[in-house]
Amino acid sequence: MLGLAKQTAEKFEAKFGYAPTGVWSAPGRVNIIGEHTDYNEGFVLPIAINRATYAAIALREDNVARVASTFTDEVIELNIDQLGEATGWAAYPLGVAHILRASKGFDLFIDSDVPVGAGLSSSAAIECAVALGLDELLGLGNDRRALASIGQRAENEVVGAPTGIMDQSASLLGKVDHAVFLDCQSLAVENVELGFAAAGLELVVIDTRVAHRLNDGGYATRRAACEAASAAFKVPSLRHLSVKDLDDGRELVDGVTYRRAHHVVTENDRVLEFVAALKLGDFSRCGALMVQSHASMRDDFEISIDELDTAVETSMRHGALGARMTGGGFGGAAIALCPIEKISDLTNSVYAEFELLGYAKPEIFTVNAADGASRLI
Ligand code: GLA
Repeated sequence: MLGLAKQTAEKFEAKFGYAPTGVWSAPGRVNIIGEHTDYNEGFVLPIAINRATYAAIALREDNVARVASTFTDEVIELNIDQLGEATGWAAYPLGVAHILRASKGFDLFIDSDVPVGAGLSSSAAIECAVALGLDELLGLGNDRRALASIGQRAENEVVGAPTGIMDQSASLLGKVDHAVFLDCQSLAVENVELGFAAAGLELVVIDTRVAHRLNDGGYATRRAACEAASAAFKVPSLRHLSVKDLDDGRELVDGVTYRRAHHVVTENDRVLEFVAALKLGDFSRCGALMVQSHASMRDDFEISIDELDTAVETSMRHGALGARMTGGGFGGAAIALCPIEKISDLTNSVYAEFELLGYAKPEIFTVNAADGASRLI
């Protein structure tokens, strides 16, 4: 981690000709369970992962903001009163500076080992590293929850993706070997111990390499369907409905809207059950809930794709206790909770199955629950 932070400082210096004031890092996340529940005021259970984005930053004496990264050779330069007009990848870091109302110019260099488009929140990692760093340098004093919502606003208002609060919360509030159990209505947070390693288990990520995007329509239409369902049921959000309420009022919505709401309402129950099972060390039950969650996303919410279904089914046939797609859907990654001694069989079987079906070769790696964002240099 420190090695990558030093490299980012060196790249900053190579690009801008002087050393940065500091380097901040923020992790990507894997959501263990609770998908598309955050913007419905429901429950989520993500972890911060041991893959992160690094932001080397220095304030300037003028009103110019420059941002460069290892993703491209270009240096984007804007005046601080134009930050809200940033586009492309620069909209994430500069969007955060816009929402923070940066009152001074700055130079910023970004590097990352969070895979982009894999559903591991590379975008939230950028937002949170930049938010933490700029907040400190500008002396703004926002706490971590406020920074999470600033990251979310940058994504909603500048990038144009109507996402919830989960990813930024995981990136800022994560803890080693713990999940972030977040109630998206009260914003209460509990760090729940995972104990996977002690139980001989690991979380395996299967990145399908099918890139997903959160601002191209699929995500927004799901969100709109959830909002239509809560309006039809006359509740502020789907958090306020039980499965029974939904079934009793089934005629209030069309079949598709019913299924969208059914996913969210049942997923909230699964998160609560998962947390209870985790506290009992009942990993088989945790695994079963992950599989149910995947089926619900495939059948009710319709955000899975063939590659993700194959990753989940193959994992389950080769020793995983549970598996599901993670993140926004329409591509990205699946996760499997797997006994350590079965990981190589699972990995080889997924490679073989993807090859047989003519899919691109997936990236398969394990992740650990890591601490949230921090200053490294
Ligand atoms: C994306 C969004 C999150 C959340 C998930 C789905 O990661 O950024 O806010 O809605 O999708 O659970």
